[in-house]
Amino acid sequence: MSGNYIERVYAKEVRAFKEISVEFSKGFNFIAGENGVGKTSILAIISHCTNIRSFTESKFTENSELHFDAIHNNERIRCGHGEGSIKIGGYREDTLRLHNTPSDKGAENRRLLHAYELESKKINLSPLFIGAVRSISYLGLEGIKKENNKVHCQNQYRQASTMSLINGSGTSVKQWIINRYFIIDKGWAWEEKNNFEHFTSRLAKLAPFDSDFKYVDTGRDMEPVFELHGKKCYLEQLSSGFQSVLTIVTSIIEWIEKCNDEGSRDIRTASGTVIIDELDAHLHPEWQLRIRDGLEVIFPNVQFIVTTHSPHLIASAKENEVIVMRKSDDDTYDLKAESKSYSGWTTDQILKDVMGVKGLDNKLYAVLIDDAFDKLADKDIRALEESIVNLEKVTHPDDTICMVLRTKLAGLKAVSDEDIATVMMDTRGVVKSSLAARPTRGRVKSSLVARPTRGRAKSSLVARPTRGRARFDLTDKPAKEIEDETTEVTKPFDDLKVTD
Ligand SMILES: Nc1ncnc2c1ncn2[C@@H]1O[C@H](COP(=O)(O)OP(=O)(O)OP(=O)(O)O)[C@@H](O)[C@H]1O
Ligand SMILES: [Mg+2]
Repeated sequence: MSGNYIERVYAKEVRAFKEISVEFSKGFNFIAGENGVGKTSILAIISHCTNIRSFTESKFTENSELHFDAIHNNERIRCGHGEGSIKIGGYREDTLRLHNTPSDKGAENRRLLHAYELESKKINLSPLFIGAVRSISYLGLEGIKKENNKVHCQNQYRQASTMSLINGSGTSVKQWIINRYFIIDKGWAWEEKNNFEHFTSRLAKLAPFDSDFKYVDTGRDMEPVFELHGKKCYLEQLSSGFQSVLTIVTSIIEWIEKCNDEGSRDIRTASGTVIIDELDAHLHPEWQLRIRDGLEVIFPNVQFIVTTHSPHLIASAKENEVIVMRKSDDDTYDLKAESKSYSGWTTDQILKDVMGVKGLDNKLYAVLIDDAFDKLADKDIRALEESIVNLEKVTHPDDTICMVLRTKLAGLKAVSDEDIATVMMDTRGVVKSSLAARPTRGRVKSSLVARPTRGRAKSSLVARPTRGRARFDLTDKPAKEIEDETTEVTKPFDDLKVTD
């Protein structure tokens, strides 16, 4: 089985780039970076390398050159436009002047091809481009059309590539499903049948957890019916997230079936490159976490080059899949995937350090935390208490920083009006037990209390001022039993130690 995929793209003086080189891996490639850094421009450059008509859609100079390196049927090729190819005509007027093959610098025995030769030499390198604008509106149905031959289809995909990226495109999901409905029982449509079954049996993997998303059937009224959370619904009744995912998936299946010969149209083995601008568009965060694995299950051999603004999508990526673009002062970039994965990073950390989002420091949460730590440093108990109350209004009930601050507050309070205070925490800052020695009212000089915290501590130690006989009481019981029962042990104060 041969795998066709793009290894690297290079461009000089195209759009806002002085020079750019990006290495891709065979599977998933997520391009992340701040707004306007050039993510979509990388995809546009790949599209220009596959056709000869889209030069009005980007800015070039007399020195511009652009190409990509790819593997095609086990052959190493380089394809694009060499220096001097483009005739500069001004804003949206640039055209192709010469068919100069790309430079052989660093080509290492690659076959050099000009973009127009992809068609004349019948090379199946026709990536599918899906723009950030998804056409998911209702479309009227057409009759079934005669299938075009594979070379014609590949060429159509190449010619449409730049505009698909800019204006958006996408298969009409409804038309696609209905076409399947008419051909599925024909002997010659065995690959389409297998693909359709593979797609429908894995739909649940593409949807959010527990949604139980299924394709049911298409009835006489030509309306495809789905099931969601146990209820039937028509295609148009699905939310834009479902429609967006269905548009992407059916577009890829259709592209594989149109661009390959009979016998190599199986979506489980077919290869090629799918390029999607803003894969996360329209998707709920949980979906953004799932879509990578869902696409991999349905199209295990396809290369994906996608841009994203979603920290959840970045968190779903594996090692060597995230390409981080950081604005360079001289507009020169040499990019490849980070060897790490970001699955253990918080959303804020990814937004700030991977996607270059500025201004998170001004978020109310961060401001309130800074304020609380200032109050803590000042040992101002009342102000700290007030800060924590304000912080708790904007945080999750399990927020670790709030817990730590509450603990520190307890410690401060204990120290302020008592002689001894010890607070024992585990490494995550969860309080296991606290120990305070209080000034006494009257007879007894001090008391010692060790409390279980929210039932987490295994045991508790309570030492109280005694009335009569014992000087101190000691309780050592599982936390939940403490309220009902107290075992009293007499201990001299000096012997009393709390251990966790
Ligand atoms: N058709 C074009 N011709 C010339 N320059 C362009 C063109 N489109 C965009 N640019 C410039 O290229 C730079 C990068 O734009 P691009 O759209 O690639 O960024 P991006 O990272 O995709 O941003 P976003 O996150 O907002 O989608 C910008 O400075 C922009 O002005
Ligand atoms: Mg963009």
